[in-house]
Amino acid sequence: MFPEPWIERAWRAVPRAAFLPEVVWVVDGPTYRPLHRGREPERWAQLVDDPGQAVVTQVDDGAPDAAGGDVPTSSVSAPNAVVDMLAELALQPGQRVLEIGTGSGFNAALLAARVGADRVTTLEIDAALASGARRALLEAGYGGVTALEADGERGWAPGAPYDRIVATASVASVPWAWVEQTGPGGLILAPFRTAFCSHGLVRLVVSDQGTASGRFVGATTFMSVRGQRARPRIDAVFSAESWDASRRSRSAVDVDLLGTPHAEFAVGMRMADVAHWAQDGAHWWCGPDSWAFAAGDGTTYQWGPRDLADETAAALDWWDRAGRPELFEFGLTVSEHGHRAWAGDPERGWALGVG
Ligand SMILES: C[S@@+](CC[C@H](N)C(=O)[O-])C[C@H]1O[C@@H](n2cnc3c(N)ncnc32)[C@H](O)[C@@H]1O
Repeated sequence: MFPEPWIERAWRAVPRAAFLPEVVWVVDGPTYRPLHRGREPERWAQLVDDPGQAVVTQVDDGAPDAAGGDVPTSSVSAPNAVVDMLAELALQPGQRVLEIGTGSGFNAALLAARVGADRVTTLEIDAALASGARRALLEAGYGGVTALEADGERGWAPGAPYDRIVATASVASVPWAWVEQTGPGGLILAPFRTAFCSHGLVRLVVSDQGTASGRFVGATTFMSVRGQRARPRIDAVFSAESWDASRRSRSAVDVDLLGTPHAEFAVGMRMADVAHWAQDGAHWWCGPDSWAFAAGDGTTYQWGPRDLADETAAALDWWDRAGRPELFEFGLTVSEHGHRAWAGDPERGWALGVG
């Protein structure tokens, strides 16, 4: 499980269970329900010990209704994901690190175990979580970490320049402040998602010229930073009138191929502003001003200025002709002017419709 000895040492030094609150949240049918450590100790222990599972520590931004929680909004990330991200950071003792998304404070403590607590700043947007993390960090012996309640999309300029910025919440657009606040040669590691797909972990190196560029190094799914939660909404574009007015044709989309992870990721990088989901054997697409629907029998309905199903077929065709590159061959270059995506050659990319 541990790719480097220092990660194992840090893992043994920082007790994960000490960063978990007394009440966590578990899936229960269509909602999340509270699980109390004292009342269900065995289930609790199972959760904490599962290397592949995140433990949800907050739902609905801390305000669930009596029926339960709808959306997880904070978690202690899955051990496997935490370890993989630490390894990608290539941390050296003494480096200055900024973490976005303190959550419980567990990962900040691991970072501190490597670089020194006074070298770590961590930002949490939720006031209650930020103060809980400060308490847990202090009790675990990492009170020297600077743990602030702040919007991490702005970074934290007073502590810059950083050698490493690591986000433990996903972005659809890498905030320019992160690039500005990372020193030349420094790294930005962030879960990156498009509206289409949410599996990428991108590792960007900041250049002397102040751009940040690098490849996707893994497939990982994290909750979004608060300011970037919005995705295109079908109810904003779909109506009975638009259904009647939609253009009908036979679907050219190979939906089985689209369902494979690397294909889905690739199409997402070509159509970053379009959401797509399968429902009862049919497929939906939704962009800012258009929608498409492919019925199980292959009939496609498209509405709006864009033909989203046709765009998907073209993106899949592009991916096929490019030799079906895997997620790891894709990369991102972030400059003052926006985001460019690429596959293989950073010089031959395309503008990503974000940021
Ligand atoms: C997956 S959790 C982080 C896990 C955490 N690193 C740990 O070790 O427990 C994601 C966290 O990001 C926080 N978050 C979301 N948007 C944020 C933002 N704009 N700035 C700072 N924190 C944010 C959430 O409140 C949540 O606590």
